[in-house]
Amino acid sequence: MCGIVGYIGNKKACPILIAGLTRLEYRGYDSAGVSTIEKKGLSIKKAKGRVKNLNTLDGINELEGTIGIAHTRWATHGKPSDENAHPHQDNSKTFSVVHNGIIENYTELRNLLENNGYHFYSQTDTEVIPNLIHYYFTKDKEKDSIMKFLRAVRNACLDLKGSYAIEVISSYFPDNMIVVRKDSPLVIGTCENEKYISSDIPAILSYTRDFYLLNDLEFTILSRTSAKFFDTELNEIKKKTDVIEWNSSAAEKDGYEDFMLKEIYEQPTAVRETIGSRISNNLKCEFEELKFTKEQLKKINKIYIIACGTAMHAGLSGKNTIEKLCRIPTEVDIASEFRYRDPIIDKNTLCIFISQSGETADTIAALKLAKSEGATTIAISNVIGSSITREADYSIYTHAGPEIAVASTKAYTSQVVLINILAIYFAEILKSTKKEILDNLKQEILSLPKKIEETLKCKDQILEFAKKVYQEKDMFFLGRGIDETVAKEGSLKLKEISYIHSESYAAGELKHGPIALIENGVTVIGIMTDEKLVEKTISNIQEVITRGAKTLIITNQKINYNSFNEAIVIPETNPLVSPILSVIPLQLLSYFISKEKGLDVDKPRNLAKSVTVE
Ligand code: G6P
Repeated sequence: MCGIVGYIGNKKACPILIAGLTRLEYRGYDSAGVSTIEKKGLSIKKAKGRVKNLNTLDGINELEGTIGIAHTRWATHGKPSDENAHPHQDNSKTFSVVHNGIIENYTELRNLLENNGYHFYSQTDTEVIPNLIHYYFTKDKEKDSIMKFLRAVRNACLDLKGSYAIEVISSYFPDNMIVVRKDSPLVIGTCENEKYISSDIPAILSYTRDFYLLNDLEFTILSRTSAKFFDTELNEIKKKTDVIEWNSSAAEKDGYEDFMLKEIYEQPTAVRETIGSRISNNLKCEFEELKFTKEQLKKINKIYIIACGTAMHAGLSGKNTIEKLCRIPTEVDIASEFRYRDPIIDKNTLCIFISQSGETADTIAALKLAKSEGATTIAISNVIGSSITREADYSIYTHAGPEIAVASTKAYTSQVVLINILAIYFAEILKSTKKEILDNLKQEILSLPKKIEETLKCKDQILEFAKKVYQEKDMFFLGRGIDETVAKEGSLKLKEISYIHSESYAAGELKHGPIALIENGVTVIGIMTDEKLVEKTISNIQEVITRGAKTLIITNQKINYNSFNEAIVIPETNPLVSPILSVIPLQLLSYFISKEKGLDVDKPRNLAKSVTVE
């Protein structure tokens, strides 16, 4: 995790760096720091706590340097503290470094450096990097030059095991910066006389739309006017810029109190963008990014959908649709489990990886594993050029626009939409489902943006309910079939941002244990959107009502609402895509509970949006 920013240009770097860090705070927010190149050498300002604390540090406003690096931290090695905050420097204070990722062999490297007279002042893994650079720089007997600086950075990186995106500046080279990444994100925004570096695109989108998207181990020397790229042998390589189409206001709150609320309300637009031209008004389904033939698809005898967190919940709904429409056995796996459980994969396996950021370390590792075993791989991501999209055989984008709040909302709904369209696309090629059924589903998908708008009207009702339950300690989410997948997502949302303990269960499973926890006043939330299962779920909810539970139901079925304390009625739709509507009241519920409790909705404690460590 952690967010890094860099600037090299003609303006004062510090305010630009702090503004960038503020936009990246969702990646980590327990300490922050900046280092700039001043006339007297390198400056360092850093402090425990949120990015805004930097503005209170002595001398921060006097920094004049026009080149600088900055970091907002999510602690891995070493507790949040001033000493452990980045940037870190070598002992001679010649090199400043910020780093996102984890250096797995840092103990070994630290011992090596200590044996060579280096001292360490923090508990971080990062501090080995500037010292290693210094070590290689001083060992190199060539005359000082930018290539000597690059060689030292390259040699240091080749010693590192793990993941890293790093920026390095040096008092010896006051007009340059060196950056490199391996398994951690880093992009370079370019303008005529300026370069902006960041862990993600939205943080610097207000300055430029032209980006260099770095591949692993492309060592980059930046000056104000140029970006030069080198491979590990230090041969120069040519790279083109990508133009990013996102609107820069997409990364601002636009009058909403929080990003999460804004993103919940962006769902009609996000889903419209996801559908795009993939389903036309005359119900043609096309994926210009995919070129599967019937023969290829016929050979696939197993599909894995692999993801983490909310993206994994979108995968559960994908499994449901793929199995129904394509009749191919599909398993959903948590990436961190998949990669270590020796999954059965061969060349007839299709692996679909879902990741909003495209940078989740476990998902990337699982993708590499699947590829090495010969599977065909598809990445579903929201971020153009992100790591999973560069690894996978095929990439399809949700086009939901940047998602900033740590708790994922519009990314989830757009992932569910996209995987449903993917299932339709496969089913059409395979001819595994009748045309009328597929056409009906396509029509439903096209009507989703309007139905989401309709669903969002439950806001006031949810707010009232949130006011009644926000002080509770436990909640239960129940559903059957597709509704159980939404129960899981509702429960995760609640935990993430309101810190209320919650459990999600297949409604029929409750009686096999968890019902022991139901006592007077406990809140149980039931989701019922499938005509075939609604009566069964009602019976299970009756069982908890009998034991004193307070109930909220979310349904699109014509049932008697009177036996429940609260009923949220959402528009009817095909059960395969019902999560896109039924999740919305649950997103709003966790949002309003968090607000009632006075919590930081966008930056919940201990979490980070992009989990680039194992
Ligand atoms: C973190 C975030 C979640 C997200 C998960 C997977 O845990 O807090 O909101 O669902 O990572 O992220 P990805 O970018 O791979 O979808």
